[in-house]
Amino acid sequence: MTGRHALQTRAVHAGLAPDPSYGSVIPAIHQTSTFAQSAVGEYVEDFDYARSANPTRTALERALGELEGGYARAFSSGMAATHALLTTVCRAGDHIVLPADLYGGTFRLVDKVLARWGLDYTLADQTDLDAVERAIRDDTRLIWVETPTNPLLNVVDLDAIVARKRDAFVAVDSTFATPVNQRPLEQRADAVVHSTTKYLGGHSDTVGGAVVVRDDQAAAAVGFVQNAVGAVPGPFDCFLVHRGLRTLPLRMAAHAASAAAVSEALRATPGVTDVRWPGFSGMVSFRHPDAAGIAQRTELFTLAESLGGVESLVEVPQAMTHQSVEGSAAAVPADLVRLSCGIEAPRDLVDDLLAAIA
Ligand SMILES: Cc1ncc(COP(=O)(O)O)c(C=O)c1O
Repeated sequence: MTGRHALQTRAVHAGLAPDPSYGSVIPAIHQTSTFAQSAVGEYVEDFDYARSANPTRTALERALGELEGGYARAFSSGMAATHALLTTVCRAGDHIVLPADLYGGTFRLVDKVLARWGLDYTLADQTDLDAVERAIRDDTRLIWVETPTNPLLNVVDLDAIVARKRDAFVAVDSTFATPVNQRPLEQRADAVVHSTTKYLGGHSDTVGGAVVVRDDQAAAAVGFVQNAVGAVPGPFDCFLVHRGLRTLPLRMAAHAASAAAVSEALRATPGVTDVRWPGFSGMVSFRHPDAAGIAQRTELFTLAESLGGVESLVEVPQAMTHQSVEGSAAAVPADLVRLSCGIEAPRDLVDDLLAAIA
């Protein structure tokens, strides 16, 4: 597959070649922990032990790299991917800039774990470029961007951040956008991070993560941490994410159609304020004094954490996914409802939501 093919074509073929032994169109799931060696130190490609490399994982990594335009490493969760990137790029004593509106788990990792190992951070509203400039210091090693943000769905001007980065490394959590809507490496960011648990896997049946970087040297550095720490995904999880990628463009179009209908209906509903939808993806948020009641009354929207699967989900971030930012500058309003609009018929989703609000 090459860059001359459309993303929809690449998504179907990325990382896949018929199995050389039997010709199976979809390669086997290599459910093995180790690989036989023909002589000491002689093995196929880099497959000596499955924490270090596994063919099912390599196929997924090739596919993710092809779709983002870089070199990918897969992890056992989005948080493991975030941890691997931060620990690859940063050292004790470094400073990083975090968005003031971000996934609570990312804040928790930096604030509660990596800060203990000497990582310093500043929160900045990344929709305010002056605030970003003020937050960048001489010792800023990395700027973490999340766009769209979770849960407020702010879209950050990535070109403007890259233009102001000075010597810092720019990493983008592109989980909500996916390569269908945004390819940060093409905008000169240095790394992309995904929770593949979400849209890339797409079916709420696996947890995983990925880091994609621009060159193979950077990928080798991330791969070193991947092997050293060992937060790797199992072969079946890699298979599931890889299968999800093949329908990603189709699903993202359906998610966006659902979210467009839902956000339009919400804007016309009394009592609902601050309806947010970035204009792509299936994520919508809004505010309502009865946030928890609404989330409990929907029938098609399941009350659950997570997002990005074919089925619609609803949650109240302050009480669920974002408890770890409570009391910090990144705290979210209690009356905020976050929707992950699935690929059901948009009309049914609108009816379900309006009935729960009424
Ligand atoms: C934007 C974003 N990044 C990262 C993560 C962490 O991913 P995981 O749950 O796969 O560790 C999440 C999880 O919700 C997320 O929403």
